[in-house]
Amino acid sequence: MTEGVPLVIPEVNPHHMAHCKIGKGTIIANPNCSTIIALMAVTPLHKLATVKRMIVSTYQASSGAGASAMEELWEQTRDVVNGKPAAPKIFPVQYAFNLFSHNSDMDLDSGYNEEELKMVKETAKIWDTKDVKITATCIRVPVMRAHAESINLEFEKDITVQEANAALAGFPGVSVIDDRVNNRHPTPLDATNKEDVFVGRVRQDISQASKRGLDLFVCGDQIKKGAALNAVQVAEQLVKNSA
Ligand SMILES: *[C@@H]1O[C@H](CO)[C@@H](O)[C@H](O)[C@H]1NC(C)=O
Repeated sequence: MTEGVPLVIPEVNPHHMAHCKIGKGTIIANPNCSTIIALMAVTPLHKLATVKRMIVSTYQASSGAGASAMEELWEQTRDVVNGKPAAPKIFPVQYAFNLFSHNSDMDLDSGYNEEELKMVKETAKIWDTKDVKITATCIRVPVMRAHAESINLEFEKDITVQEANAALAGFPGVSVIDDRVNNRHPTPLDATNKEDVFVGRVRQDISQASKRGLDLFVCGDQIKKGAALNAVQVAEQLVKNSA
């Protein structure tokens, strides 16, 4: 969040690093995994109808807390299946067959944790706006390495499901899985080890006037687009800028 340091998702705000070239002192920051995954899905819709308010609920994988957290999930799952008690080490509560509030530091005054606050602050910086209102609830679920997010959006202008799906399908790095008849929508396993962010369950929010709201469900690999792939893409963009 340091002023003057671009925070970049190459598909979303490559213009923020347009002035950056390879060389001493060049710093470009990678956003948080849940922010990257949310904004890959929401940016094409924001471009169409301008997001006024965004409510995000996450279902986050163990990989976000590192290799030892992934190991903890394996170990506890094995233990519980074999009738043994789960032994929490990294997380304070049992992880296998359970879920819990994200483990990042909590701001005791507001009750928001760091992961949730990053979503708010980083989105404002990446989208260059102070006008979008965001709230988030971040939850750790017993999934290995792809995050899922339920996102509710309120727009300034009307936007239909057809317009939204067309914009999503046309956005680089996004794939739509939205089969209402067979109830086939993105799952963390669909996104695992994939570069794209998967979006589905795109529907008009019936609680909002006219066509001002949408609900969607998003899955993205936390290690790839949520971290390493994004950093590699930033590096590729930097090479292009320097050519
Ligand atoms: C995202 O932010 C949380 C909270 O500060 C942190 O624990 C986590 O390591 C970050 N993840 C990535 C991929 O930057």
